[in-house]
Amino acid sequence: MTEKNIKFLNFGSLNTDMVYTVDHTVRPGETTASSKLEYFCGGKGLNQSIALSRAGARIFHAGCVGSDGDRLIEQLERNGIDVHLVKKSDMPSGHAIIQVDKNGQNSILLFGGANKQISPEHIAAVLSDFKAGDRLFLQNEINNVDKIISAASEKKMDIVFNPSPFGEEIQKFPLDKVSWFVVNETEAQELTGETVPEKILSAFSAKYPSAKVLLTLGGDGAYCKADGKTYFHDIFDVPVVDTTAAGDTFLGFFFATLDSRGVEEALKYASAASAVAVSRKGASSSIPTVEETEKFLENYN
Ligand code: RIB
Repeated sequence: MTEKNIKFLNFGSLNTDMVYTVDHTVRPGETTASSKLEYFCGGKGLNQSIALSRAGARIFHAGCVGSDGDRLIEQLERNGIDVHLVKKSDMPSGHAIIQVDKNGQNSILLFGGANKQISPEHIAAVLSDFKAGDRLFLQNEINNVDKIISAASEKKMDIVFNPSPFGEEIQKFPLDKVSWFVVNETEAQELTGETVPEKILSAFSAKYPSAKVLLTLGGDGAYCKADGKTYFHDIFDVPVVDTTAAGDTFLGFFFATLDSRGVEEALKYASAASAVAVSRKGASSSIPTVEETEKFLENYN
C-alpha cells in the first residue's frame, strides 16, 4: 500500500511481554494473585513494525536485543520485516510486566534492557542506509531518541514520533523537527497543556506549525490534522478483551494506508484494525492482517 521508492524505517524497542490476567490492577501495598501468565512478543517498536508490515508496508526495523532476543528477531522476520539493522548487546532484552484486568484495560511496567543500548555509531550506521523523504518511526522506549531525531532531520527524513511512554526528557527533544506527532490524550496534554481535542490540535499547530498530528482517544475515536484540515473517525464498537498494542496497530495501519489512499481511508483502516486488535489477547499477536481488517469492515454493520 506504500509508495515504492520511499523506505520505511522503525528505530524502536523489542520486548518480551509477560501478561498476567488479573481481576483488577494491583494497588499500592496490595498482594494479589493472577489467574494466568502468558508470554508474547511486544514493545512499541516491534508492535508498530508488525502493524505496518501486516498492513502492507515494507519495513526495516532497527534496534537492540540481548543474547536472549532471538525470539523477538524471529517474530519480526516471520512478519516480513528486514532485521539486518537490529544489533545484539550484552544486556538482557527489554521486557514488560503487563496486568490485564477483567475489563481488558492494562497497566505496564517496563524494563528497557538492551533497548537502552543504542549508540551514536549504531545510529549513524542505520541512517546511512536511508535518504531524504524516507519515513522514520520513533517511540520513546529506546535511548538517544533526541539524537536520532536530529540526525534524521539533517538527512531530511520524514519523522513520525509517538512520544510513548511519556517522560519529562521529551520536552527537551528537538520536536520542531518532527513531521508527524502520534499522541493519545495524556501525551497530547503533556505537550500542549490542553485537554479538549480541538484545542489540542490548535495548540499543536501553533507550537509546531509544519507538523501533522494524529490524536487517538481510545473509545472516543481519533482525529488527524494535516495540511490545515481536520479529520475525525469514530471507533468501531467491539467487545474489549485486551487493549495492549491497540495504539501501535492504529499507527501502523494509518501510515501503511496514508500515501496511497489518503487520510480518510487511513483513519478508517486504522480504526478497524485496532478494533480487531482489542478483541484479541496479547501485543503483536493481536494485530490483524490487511485481509482480516478488510473482512472486519465488510462484516461490521
Ligand atoms: O504498546 C504496547 C507495548 O508497550 C507492549 O507490547 C509493551 O512491551 C510496551 O512496550
